[in-house]
Amino acid sequence: MLRRLHKEQPASFEFTPANLAWAKGQISKYPEGRQASAIIPLLWRAQEQHGWLTRPAIEHVADMLGMAYIRALEVATFYFMFQLQPVGSVAHIQICGTTSCMICGAEELIAVCQELIAKAPHALSADGKFSWEEVECMGACANAPMAQIGKDYYEDLTAEKLRGLIGRFSKGEVPVPGPQNGRYAAEPLSGLTSLKEFGSGKKQYNASAQLAVDIKDTVKRIDGTEVPLTTPWLGAAAKPAKAAKAEKPADKAQPAEKPAAKPAAKAEKPAADVAAAGGKPPKGLKAPKKGGADDLKVIEGIGPALEKLCNDMGIFHFDQIALWGPAEIAWMDGNLKGFRGRVTRDKWVAQAKLIGEVGIEEFLIRAKTNNY
Ligand code: FES
Repeated sequence: MLRRLHKEQPASFEFTPANLAWAKGQISKYPEGRQASAIIPLLWRAQEQHGWLTRPAIEHVADMLGMAYIRALEVATFYFMFQLQPVGSVAHIQICGTTSCMICGAEELIAVCQELIAKAPHALSADGKFSWEEVECMGACANAPMAQIGKDYYEDLTAEKLRGLIGRFSKGEVPVPGPQNGRYAAEPLSGLTSLKEFGSGKKQYNASAQLAVDIKDTVKRIDGTEVPLTTPWLGAAAKPAKAAKAEKPADKAQPAEKPAAKPAAKAEKPAADVAAAGGKPPKGLKAPKKGGADDLKVIEGIGPALEKLCNDMGIFHFDQIALWGPAEIAWMDGNLKGFRGRVTRDKWVAQAKLIGEVGIEEFLIRAKTNNY
């Protein structure tokens, strides 16, 4: 399936204060230079906040992590869990269409979605409340056919049961997830034949369904106000900021959000870490040369945040970077706060030299194979 960004996009994206605090806690889990590892949870949180993953959200996350936009886009378009188009304001329904579910009636479930929601997957229902798609096996084959609605599994479905569930969701109810045919979990339909003694003292629902009932987030979006993210390695628990007013459920009109936040990484004062980092600062310019600054993002590994850091240090041109020797590289590697080690890791100097030799067009061809 071709996964593209939606043709209508909001103007910008920024995390709510609570989600921003959470995101910073996630980023702090990774060592210097490896912040890009936080991309999946940050994209996921952006999707939870907005309902679906917008281009401004993807770029905002890329900026926070010092990644080139294309790298973040690659992740967002690769994983099907990221919804690249608006989803229903109440629920997005994922019908498993793989073998067990198909044999047990998935096609009838899809027919119900087509009748009650929209003919095509990923389209909104007329009232904007629902959307649906067919997905691959969700690992609940013993309870086929099944669907994931919001965050929970509804199992042992029939067309009539799904019809009833959609009706209840539509009225604002949240039906209990889990088997919908009276089964407790995935025991034989005719009842337990062994381990019967484990039946006593059990909770009302199986563990998954019970948790869903307890935390009540089946179709509620997480917004940063849940369990605080503890960050003992920072010396304190990162308390979520007071929840900002939750965004409205998935929008149909795509109202513009506030202007995008500034990149998380701020320029360090060049002199601050000289001693610790070693090396010597590269020669900077007060302003770009005539003709304007080069697009440093052409260099693989430099994203908007790193480009800004370089510009703040007086680095605007490829030929400046091409002149760096071991001392300048060491200094830059030690002083790119949040991105330490990037100059060496991504071979900035070799890339800048090649750009000077062959021009940007040829460089971009060679960059595809890391041939620099
Ligand atoms: S085939 Fe549907 S959950 Fe595995």
